[in-house]
Amino acid sequence: MGALKSNRGGLENVLVIGTGSYAPERVLTNKDLEKIVDTSDEWIATRTGMRERRIAADGQATSDLGAEAAKRALQSADISADEIDLLIVPTITPDVPWPNTACLIQNKIGAVNAACIGLEAACTGFIYAIETARNYLASGAARTALVVGAEKMSSILDWEDRNTCVLFGDGAGAVVLRAGGDEVGMIGSVMGSDGSLSELLMVPAGGSRLPTSEQTVCDRLHYLKMNGREVYKHAVSNMTQSAIDLLEKTGVSKNEIDWLIPHQANMRIIQAVSRRLKIPMDKFIVNIEKYGNTSGASIGLALDEAVVDGRIKRGDKILCVAFGGGFTWGSTLMVWTK
Ligand code: ACO
Repeated sequence: MGALKSNRGGLENVLVIGTGSYAPERVLTNKDLEKIVDTSDEWIATRTGMRERRIAADGQATSDLGAEAAKRALQSADISADEIDLLIVPTITPDVPWPNTACLIQNKIGAVNAACIGLEAACTGFIYAIETARNYLASGAARTALVVGAEKMSSILDWEDRNTCVLFGDGAGAVVLRAGGDEVGMIGSVMGSDGSLSELLMVPAGGSRLPTSEQTVCDRLHYLKMNGREVYKHAVSNMTQSAIDLLEKTGVSKNEIDWLIPHQANMRIIQAVSRRLKIPMDKFIVNIEKYGNTSGASIGLALDEAVVDGRIKRGDKILCVAFGGGFTWGSTLMVWTK
């Protein structure tokens, strides 16, 4: 229904004016996982920092999680859904192959004036989506954007594979961004990708390469496959480099950073990034112990929690850093203006 306005020319400031998140009620603890696969609370906690994760109800799809987070973000921004003219939803667990999940969330929240973009950059999705929105808003092509990272990771996990099923959870995080005014909010971003390493983290079947068949289902090819050790190495080096590149590009020193919000993939990855950047862990916002890896939702979920509990305050400089399947990576820097 919605359409983007034509470019008004000139660059506008872009501010985050609201945040929201939603995690489904059902809690799956490490102890619960001991009954499903050959694992232990001790192994999961020491290797990943995770203690529990949330699992969506059977009837609950990604758009349901996202719509809830979106409604909370609109409430926090104190605007109505029809003020949104751009809605971007990064997800790797769409309700259906198409139409895109942004359209489905649009319908659920009544964002009737929004153009809806589905975006797929795995765990970097939130950064890619925020940066896409920032550029639309800065250029004047849109005025108010809603970014909703939402994932039902439990729907693509192989619950017989202990290497992967213990690592992920379901949830959603959202931000409302608005153009205009004299204050600087979003400062800048860097993004990168390396498609030559795509096979290290992927869902092999269900697309045009290997359409769904009895064989692909028997071979369990619709589940997430990952080479954990390789992903780990690339995640540490790319997240670190991406943060360094962004600080250099924006001329902001790491001592000025009040909060670093990393994609919540593994506590050891986060600690390694902290050591390499020489930014202490007490500046990192981490909630991996409660939610596991929620892919494209993780940064939005962590941001909203830290805003709601009062850690993030007006004037704080926040650096968000992510890495994910593709491979994709990126960082974004903002001043908190709410
Ligand atoms: N419980 C018990 N044992 C396990 C489990 C489990 N859940 N999973 C694996 N193991 C075993 C392995 O089989 C292996 O056994 P073996 O030595 O007999 O073969 C042993 O534990 C050690 O395996 P490693 O792979 O060496 O374990 P590692 O210390 O590397 O930790 C992990 C594995 C947690 C997966 C780590 O490599 C990691 O975090 N990688 C990055 C994952 C990630 O971030 N993925 C998301 C990326 S973002 C996105 O786009 C979705």
